[in-house]
Order: sequence, then C-alpha cells, then structure tokens
Amino acid sequence: MMTKMKIAVLTGGGDCPGLNGTIKWVTKTALDPKIVEKRSTSFDVVGIKEGWQGLIDIDPADPKSCERFIKPLDEEIVRTWDRYGGTNLGTSRTNPFNPKNDRSKKLIQNIKKLGIDIIVAIGGEDTLGVAYKLYKIGIKTVGIPKTIDNDLTGTEYSLGFDTAINIIMEEIDRLRTTAGSHSRIFVVETMGRHAGWLALYGGESSGAYIILIPEHPFDMDKICELLQERKGREIHYSIIVVSEGAKHIGHQEILKNNKIDDFGHVNLGGVATFVSNEIEKRTGFESRSIVLSHLQRGGTPSARDRLLARWFGIAAVDMIMNEDFGRMVSLSRGEITSVPLKEIVNKLKLVEVSKYYDTERYNGRRTIL
Ligand code: F6P
Repeated sequence: MMTKMKIAVLTGGGDCPGLNGTIKWVTKTALDPKIVEKRSTSFDVVGIKEGWQGLIDIDPADPKSCERFIKPLDEEIVRTWDRYGGTNLGTSRTNPFNPKNDRSKKLIQNIKKLGIDIIVAIGGEDTLGVAYKLYKIGIKTVGIPKTIDNDLTGTEYSLGFDTAINIIMEEIDRLRTTAGSHSRIFVVETMGRHAGWLALYGGESSGAYIILIPEHPFDMDKICELLQERKGREIHYSIIVVSEGAKHIGHQEILKNNKIDDFGHVNLGGVATFVSNEIEKRTGFESRSIVLSHLQRGGTPSARDRLLARWFGIAAVDMIMNEDFGRMVSLSRGEITSVPLKEIVNKLKLVEVSKYYDTERYNGRRTIL
C-alpha cells in the first residue's frame, strides 16, 4: 500500500546563493513521477516561510496564517528557482531553544498540528543545531549545509561559498585598477566570523599581497614591515584582504554595534578601517578601506553552487527514502554522502594555520606538498 508523507523545507540563518536550487531539487526529486512509481511512499512538499520563526508564528487553525507561512511546492512552481540567489522562502536567525526566550514547545506543537512528517532544514551550524535538537525528541529531520563562511564541520563544502569567493575576486579585480592609478593601498574586509576561508580563498584567488584571518591574530608592525619591503620596487599599490573576525594581537574582534542575535552572535565590522588607518598613521602610505559586506551573499549562484544545490537536494530525498534521519548531507573527498548531525553541532571548521597559512608572509602557503 502507498503511504503519503509531508516534507517541510525551510531555510535558516544568513541567505546565500544556492538555497533556491536546493529547494527546487528536494521538491523535484520528492515528486518525480518516474521515481514515485517505484516507491511505496509518495510525498507532499511544502516550503516554510522565514525559517524556524515561521513554524513558531504560524497558527495551524487559521487558514490565513497558513497561507502566510506555508508555500505548497510542486515542479511547476520551483522550475526556475535554481537560477536565482537568496531564498524564495525567506529566512530568520531564530533559535527556538534560546533559554532566555524558549519557544520550542510552540514549534513542536505546530509541527505536529500541521501534519509534517519530515523537516529538511537548509542552514549553517545554528539552524542545523535546532534540527538536531528536534531529531533528539523524535522529529524526523535532514540537514543540508549552507554558509558562505564554509565553516561547517563534517562537509568539505557548504552552499554559497563558491559564489562568495568569486564575488570577492571580482571586486578585488575592480579595486586593482583604481588602487594602481592612485598608488594606494586597499584593505578589503570580507565576511567570516570565526573562520578565515572567505578571506584566504578570496585573497589567494585574487593574488592579494596580505591576507588576515581570525585563526592567526595579526601584528600591525609586521603588516607595515611587509608593505615597506615592497617600497622602491615597481609596485604602486597593495591589496590586503581581512576577515571581519580577524584580531590585532592582544585585542578582541572589532564590533559594528552592540547587537547580539538569538544564537548569541555579535555583529562584526570595522577591522579593515582599523588596519587602513593604522597603515596611514605608521607608514604615511595612502590607504583606503572597503567592506564587501552583504554583496558577498548576493546575486546569482555560480555553476558550482548550482551543481551542489542540485546534488544536495537530491541526496536529501535519498536520505528520506533510506530513513537516514538526524543526518546532514555532506561533501567528503569529492563524493556526496551524509554525516550524523550530532557530529557537526557545537564546533566549526577553522583554517588550520600550520597547513594553509604562512605566518611570515601573512598569506597562503608557498609549499603545498
Ligand atoms: O551567515 C554568516 C554570515 O554571512 C557571517 O559571515 C556574517 O558575520 C553574518 O552572516 C552577517 O549576518 P547578517 O546578515 O545577519 O548581517
């Protein structure tokens, strides 16, 4: 006998290119008529708007509220979604289990009242941490990794990262012409709260002279020495890439404001301006700073993000069919596989300084093998 199950898909945390493609491929694979024929289970797929917040705010008894927070999905609706960035479902940084404002009871009640059998959560460590807590109390969840920071453990790749480093590279290409014309230094601030992957890969792919990452506190004297070393050579400008989470030795990260989100994260920003001002003060070299900010999360997904969105979405439905719940889709040694959510929560994949970073040059390593 054919059983019917309801899959709810949601996106949580910061948006990024690749989310819409993942939603498309979860939907298409779950509803694919050719595959459905061979299964003993058929699916309804719905999108939950605004992540965990949507599942808390919804009133399942009120049709207007359901219309507001639930988007029924089918192959026709999601047909073109993979071409677009952002998330068509909306997102939130909501922690239903925040001890200061615990809304987990309401969330769990709503999941039950809505008849949701399986939740596919697309997110970073915070969103997937919630998926893990739900799994532990008996709710079937599958996770899909996304974060432009690429700092999730258990997977070599998280959606959004490739598009973001391409944006960093393109913007630095643009800055080079104006930096050269004016013989200036440009300090470029990337995202990356705890992990320096965006700064390191963005900086290496664009050939930046200096790269500063959170994993290795920087010394302003050293930066100035490195810049002085170039003086007198046929080089008129330098590009410095700095991760928003990078710290001056003996100091904390620089905060943009005093805001703290539901998961306890502070708002970082300002380190590029700090480095740029210090360079001018200490060397007299003309310097400018720029914060790439949310440009890094905007626009259309790269080919790699479209491909991985597709493969991650398909794999999530395979996991549902195999009853592999409480796990996250993962890329490991170039293959799509899955890992237990338990193994990926409460830790982050940081840049291994001894392996990837040259602490003398403040740049990527010059020996690889
Ligand atoms: O999602 C991670 C991230 O992109 C961080 O690199 C950055 O610090 C943060 O999001 C910015 O968050 P928001 O979009 O809430 O300003």
